Amino acid sequence: PGKTFSESDQIAVSKRFGRLQVTVRRQYHHGAHPEIYVITNLDPEGRLIPEHPDPAATVWHTDGSYEKNRAIATMLYGIKAPKSGGDTIYSNMYLAYDALSDEMKRQLESLRAVHSLEDSLRRSGPQQIIAEEVQKAPPVEHPIIRVHPDTGRKCIYLGEHASYAVGMPRQEGEELVRKINEQATPPAFQYRHVWQPNDVVIWDNRCTLHKATSFDFGKEGRLIRRTTMIGEQAPHLAG
Ligand code: SIN
Repeated sequence: PGKTFSESDQIAVSKRFGRLQVTVRRQYHHGAHPEIYVITNLDPEGRLIPEHPDPAATVWHTDGSYEKNRAIATMLYGIKAPKSGGDTIYSNMYLAYDALSDEMKRQLESLRAVHSLEDSLRRSGPQQIIAEEVQKAPPVEHPIIRVHPDTGRKCIYLGEHASYAVGMPRQEGEELVRKINEQATPPAFQYRHVWQPNDVVIWDNRCTLHKATSFDFGKEGRLIRRTTMIGEQAPHLAG
């Protein structure tokens, strides 16, 4: 709480965690610092834009899982927060793994899922799909169960950027991913961050899902600067 962060401060602190991602989603780039992803419903003059600034973030996801280089951590710096709503909710994917039945753990152990920006944008509601962006992030496969490289604990790596599990009929693969995603986020696994201006939140994308919530975007402004730290490729994609 209570941090005053310039753009350069945020970039410098973020770089301690990994390389900074420049998102393929160019409409979110900060004009002077493309490593900063600006989430806001305010135009440059501070006027309200009456729509959710990032509909694809309102479903459970882990940042950038549709890219080959998976995200290690994300930092959000909240500059303007609505009086109500606009919270960010997190769910613990170690607990989600631990809660699976032994049979499901065995089934998922060797399975991979396809993560796709294009599919995810289609599923998360009406928004413009920009061909250049989705071409830069073609679908990629990641193991569904991953061993966290620092803690050695197993966790689920899915979320709504994941479309389907491979190695089975497509519909079955989609249903499996949907089912696991639904089970992964009960209230008992969650932390809800209610934003105050000048809060900084940093989290580990390898073992959490998160989502943005709605707010009265026609009446209140929300301005958040995001940086995402990347560095780890899935072992089968490394090299
Ligand atoms: C994000 O998904 O990275 C942003 C979450 C938020 O805007 O609350």
